[in-house]
Amino acid sequence: MPGIGIGTFGSDHVPHAEVADAVDAAISIGYRHVDCAAVYDNEAQIGSTLAHHIGNTVSRDELWISSKVWNDSHDHVAAACEQTLRDLSIDALDMYLVHWPFPNFHPPHCDVDERNPDAIAYEPDMFRETWAQMESLVERGLTRHIGTSNMTIAKLERLLPDVSIQPSVNQMELHPHFQQPELRTYLRDHQIEPIGFCPIGSPGRPERDRTADDTSPTMDPTIVELAEQYGIHPATACVKWATDVGHTPIPFSTNPRNIHANLEATTRPSFTSDELSAIEDADRDCRLIKGQVFLWKDDQPWRELWDEDGGITR
Ligand SMILES: NC(=O)c1ccc[n+]([C@@H]2O[C@H](COP(=O)([O-])OP(=O)(O)OC[C@H]3O[C@@H](n4cnc5c(N)ncnc54)[C@H](OP(=O)(O)O)[C@@H]3O)[C@@H](O)[C@H]2O)c1
Repeated sequence: MPGIGIGTFGSDHVPHAEVADAVDAAISIGYRHVDCAAVYDNEAQIGSTLAHHIGNTVSRDELWISSKVWNDSHDHVAAACEQTLRDLSIDALDMYLVHWPFPNFHPPHCDVDERNPDAIAYEPDMFRETWAQMESLVERGLTRHIGTSNMTIAKLERLLPDVSIQPSVNQMELHPHFQQPELRTYLRDHQIEPIGFCPIGSPGRPERDRTADDTSPTMDPTIVELAEQYGIHPATACVKWATDVGHTPIPFSTNPRNIHANLEATTRPSFTSDELSAIEDADRDCRLIKGQVFLWKDDQPWRELWDEDGGITR
């Protein structure tokens, strides 16, 4: 899997065509990994970009294309994957992820306080059924690998003993203010690759995903100082940190200069071990994508989605 990808979530305000143009710019300068999802609603536009490049500027084998099954399709994964393949104009994915561990549908753009009356807690048996459908996709050749997203150690502990095909990756929020060291160690111990979303702290994320307590890794004094020292943007320093510590960032940008800077960052010499220790100390344990819309009880704190006491929250 290429060690950096281009994200494609336009945070509800970037037009689909502009996201497709960003993917075009990224592939043109050397990105070989594109992170898509059905719920971003722009796979058809990205598919046109991919069709333009594949066989012309790159071969299909050179590209790593990921997508994700949305929460309303956990019981018909194959149909969702087939639709994504049609939209992306490809025969098979390199990676297909279960976007969230909950089958709790909420409409795009909905308010953070909106709750699905049918929402339920994580059900290990139900998720295993979804996972079995994911495994069938590999057997049918519709995707080369399968993975999870937004999973916790507690949930993985219940899943892994029963799988025939283990998740190759877990996509998760990762940036200098939310480093998730325990989960990363767990994944490494189980040969599951961490993919980091919001590697820059998602400065353009939708209003619904912001709270007063949120912090910004690009405004962190350690990150700012290192960026100044090396003459790079703090955003780029965040991307560099990700590849230095060995996970795969998928930064989003529609700005060709930033798209280029993020890729270039991966080719710079690593931060020193002292610099990496300083960034480790800068962790604020600040989750930005809290997932409130997946909650299943009234007045439930969002932290219950993340099994912080070590067991699956019921
Ligand atoms: N699995 C999941 O549940 C999940 C959740 C969230 C996100 N994701 C994936 O992760 C991807 C990345 O997350 P994200 O888009 O939320 O956040 P992000 O990549 O942390 O931040 C993107 C923002 O950073 C800015 N930016 C990028 N490079 C920059 C640079 N070099 N200098 C200055 N600013 C820069 C962009 O603005 P410009 O456009 O102006 O450059 C954009 O507003 C998404 O697109 C999506 O593919 C997955």
